[in-house]
Amino acid sequence: MTIAPENRRLLGLAPQSHARGKRSPTTCLLKCGNQCAHDAPNTTANEYFPDVATRALSRRGVLGGVGAGALALAIAPATPAAAGTVAAAPAGRGNGLRFSPIAPVPATVDAVTVPDGYTWKAVIRWGDPLFDDSPEFDPANQTRASQEAQFGYNCDYLDIIAIGGQRGRTALGVVNHEYTNENIMFPPTTDPARIEENKRVAMAAHGLTVLELRRQAPGQPWEYVRGAERNRRITAQTPFAVDGPAAGHPLLRTAADPVGRTVLGTLNNCAGGTTPWGTVLSGEENFNQYFVATSTAETRRYGIPSTVSSSGRNWWTVDPRFDARQPGYENEVNRFGWIVEVDPEDPTSTPVKHTALGRFKHEGATIRVGRGGRVVAYSGDDERFEYIYKFVSARTYRDDEGPGARAHNKTLLSEGDLYVAKFTGDSPAAEIDGTGKLPTDGAFDGGGEWLPLVVGGESKVPGMSVAEVLVLTRLAADKVGATKMDRPEDVEPNPVTGKVYVALTNNTNRGVGTNAGADEANPRITNREGHVLELTEAGNDPTALTFGWNLLLVCGTPGRTGTYFGGYEGPVSPISCPDNVAFDSTGALWISTDGQPGSIGLDDALHRVTLEGPDRGKVEQFLAVPRDAETCGPVIHDQDGLVFVCVQHPGEDGSWAAQRSFFPDYVAPGALAGGNWGGPRPSVVQVYRER
Ligand code: FEO
Ligand code: CA
Ligand code: CA
Repeated sequence: MTIAPENRRLLGLAPQSHARGKRSPTTCLLKCGNQCAHDAPNTTANEYFPDVATRALSRRGVLGGVGAGALALAIAPATPAAAGTVAAAPAGRGNGLRFSPIAPVPATVDAVTVPDGYTWKAVIRWGDPLFDDSPEFDPANQTRASQEAQFGYNCDYLDIIAIGGQRGRTALGVVNHEYTNENIMFPPTTDPARIEENKRVAMAAHGLTVLELRRQAPGQPWEYVRGAERNRRITAQTPFAVDGPAAGHPLLRTAADPVGRTVLGTLNNCAGGTTPWGTVLSGEENFNQYFVATSTAETRRYGIPSTVSSSGRNWWTVDPRFDARQPGYENEVNRFGWIVEVDPEDPTSTPVKHTALGRFKHEGATIRVGRGGRVVAYSGDDERFEYIYKFVSARTYRDDEGPGARAHNKTLLSEGDLYVAKFTGDSPAAEIDGTGKLPTDGAFDGGGEWLPLVVGGESKVPGMSVAEVLVLTRLAADKVGATKMDRPEDVEPNPVTGKVYVALTNNTNRGVGTNAGADEANPRITNREGHVLELTEAGNDPTALTFGWNLLLVCGTPGRTGTYFGGYEGPVSPISCPDNVAFDSTGALWISTDGQPGSIGLDDALHRVTLEGPDRGKVEQFLAVPRDAETCGPVIHDQDGLVFVCVQHPGEDGSWAAQRSFFPDYVAPGALAGGNWGGPRPSVVQVYRER
């Protein structure tokens, strides 16, 4: 007898394994709907660097990667002071965080590990009450109503927006909730009513949370304020406004929304970015797994299954729109896969889905203000062999605090141009042998161009209208010949130098069978460890149409064949599966990982990477997260001596009866008292100096 995945979980059975080396089977099932168990949806024959030596863009002509730092400070900082009462961090640069790197932590360890002299504390945990009348956390008896009033599950993106800068005493925290681990969240049950309510709880545990924070003095840990005015939950049922060129298009209309301008909920929100005007962007990533839809070229390109939801959630039994085979719901799948914008200052504001930024499995989006004030949003499509995009706004950023400035800036992502990246290597293709061995010029590097999809309100893709390009962006990018990358995760500009860093987390199918082989920007076949790409826009202007690039890191265990650490020869920490990137006030890069337990047998980690000077490429591990968890959403307040991370899916391979993590409360298994629980709770963690 075949037991459906959902029933396996509810019956307390282990999910069937689909993991391919990297992820746990549970993550594969619940986070991305066993994406890697299927052929990658990109079956196009887009080129991957044939004859690169003859057609390579001149590195010198586009301000190539290595050695380009001297020109890096030519334009305005990436994050000017925000226009509203939420201020961006002050522009001043500190001296960086002082710490001794920790030793790598074996994947069996269920602890947060921090450097000597530091300690940690949770800011907020799954189930913590947000409002005065929120029910207390009771994991055995969660309801939709209780979860809607509590902190959600599997936090990923995080920002701590301190009023007055890093050393302020009040702040807004913005966190999203990517997915749910039903296997460890709920007691097993065969009661149909309880099964249905658990689905509603899971929907309520998705989305985002806004919360107010306070403390007595700089350098101290923060506490969230229950009942604060701006505390808010956004869930899979919260109304969103659709804006941009595709709003109202027939492809976005459903029986419940015949004008195609209001969508209920946001799903699988992964990474994100805080805008210079104080709002937060969040990417709808593996939305496909929540739906079934009639099989078409379009639904297949987005990996949407046709018979059973690939995550096993089958939410249509409580909300029929998740079955897009049903008349009237065919377009519901088109209403997810967007960048959403949330204004944390106004808890009554309607969050927005921006069609101008295109529809794909957005990891997140990050902003840099370009020369002349147009803002650029970078975004990766996180799936094997997918692409990297950028949006350039039509209107310009207002950096004043005059009347209407904030409202104006909130329209910047509603209209503009959309591009997709094409990378070209500068070494002969024969020198890229798939092992990670450096070519004879000593670097994986080259040039690239931003291929237009929509410019000036016109489609640049033959046979597709503007709305079609924006709703079916993957198909549009296929047509123009974008470069297939190894799962683009965060794509984020460095606020100090303007260079853009891309985490390419892994791609075990690179070079396998008929899949694209190694190229200079994705130089390893069966790439389990991932790499980090450094991109420098021509003239260091984010609105430029050409760029230079180089691989900063080719990840793995130091000394292993095919790894590269920016040319740094000294000791470095092992790093695998880079995911989220952040920067401290000095411009140093911080990278969190997602997948080290499966790739190198270590708990996932947060690392600092030096970018400039003789130590370029030096990787120093700052922390490790508990068993089965990934490290997400790093926020580095080095001037205040604090580092924040989200701990996502701790103990995910457990079950209700046999939990594998007891983070962060570490009380007796199953205990529930004083707000603490003997089971895993995804949480925001702050790390600070012991006093
Ligand atoms: Fe949700 Fe691409 O990680
Ligand atoms: Ca080269
Ligand atoms: Ca991610």
